[in-house]
Amino acid sequence: MIGDRKVLFSGMQATGNLTLGNYLGALKNWVNIADEYLTFFSVVDLHSITVRQDPAELRKRARALLTLYIAAGLDPEKNCIYYQSHVSGHAELAWILNCFTYMGELNRMTQFKDKAAKHADNINAGLFTYPVLMAADILLYQADVVPVGNDQMQHLEITRDIAQRFNAIYGDVFTIPEVYLGKVGARIMSLQDPEKKMSKSDENPNASIYLMDDTDTIIRKFKRAVTDSEAQIVYREEQPGIRNLIDIYVACTKKSVEEVEREFDGKGYGEFKLAVGEAVATELRPLQERVAQLSKDKAYLDGIIKNNAEKAEYYATKTLRKVQKKVGFPERVR
Ligand code: TRP
Repeated sequence: MIGDRKVLFSGMQATGNLTLGNYLGALKNWVNIADEYLTFFSVVDLHSITVRQDPAELRKRARALLTLYIAAGLDPEKNCIYYQSHVSGHAELAWILNCFTYMGELNRMTQFKDKAAKHADNINAGLFTYPVLMAADILLYQADVVPVGNDQMQHLEITRDIAQRFNAIYGDVFTIPEVYLGKVGARIMSLQDPEKKMSKSDENPNASIYLMDDTDTIIRKFKRAVTDSEAQIVYREEQPGIRNLIDIYVACTKKSVEEVEREFDGKGYGEFKLAVGEAVATELRPLQERVAQLSKDKAYLDGIIKNNAEKAEYYATKTLRKVQKKVGFPERVR
């Protein structure tokens, strides 16, 4: 809580091309709930360097992501949209929290195991303590709620454990955050393997719709989407490909599943795939136009970046000073 408002914190990494899954599953949902909270939406670039990045590319993508937050409908005057690296408190609190986190706990993190397997040549300490930095992000702003996907649940659990451990020693310092359990966004699956989540790191570009894909590309990818030979557009367990397409269509058109089943009763997959492709293109076009427009206005974006970094810094410093005092660091002489 800050004042009488509940705080919501979330963040995304600026690595890889954002997909329709990130948009329908997360970003769009943030926009729907943002008004109810005091919000912080971070572009978590400190997390990004846990795997090797090209510096120019990282900078470009980070700015593109920040632009996208705004283009998606998060008003940057009301929502604190900022780069994690612009607020040094994240790294400072992460260090302190590292000293309250056990190796054994971090060893259990499934995402670490996955990433370590994937980047076997660069299993660095940052990758190992990634969840502690994430805990610092959340606790720094005394966040009450954190909207995250299933893959981040374990990180939210460890955040709560660290906060409770710290509070047990030093008193009520941190708000214990809850995962946001409202209406969650759609879980969008790969177009090539509907048992797998659509992922920005998928090597097959046909598996994902990127937010900046043009209409032709979008329609082509949907035409190639893996389905089945049931030849029926119904929402059921045995047809994960069709189910995914229905989910996407529903998310873009706001029709119900029943309406969609009725609309395409007796129709072929080709026709349905085309309709889904067009619905997605229609959904993404205004977003792409706003991105293009915002990107042209360098001064405006720079102003937002500066103001929001200052705002984030203000709240972050409050928590950080309290924590520093609790653990016994000397007070600053003014
Ligand atoms: N680890 C998150 C992800 O990859 C991103 C993230 C970093 C985050 N810090 C956060 C999400 C704090 C929520 C809250 O999706």
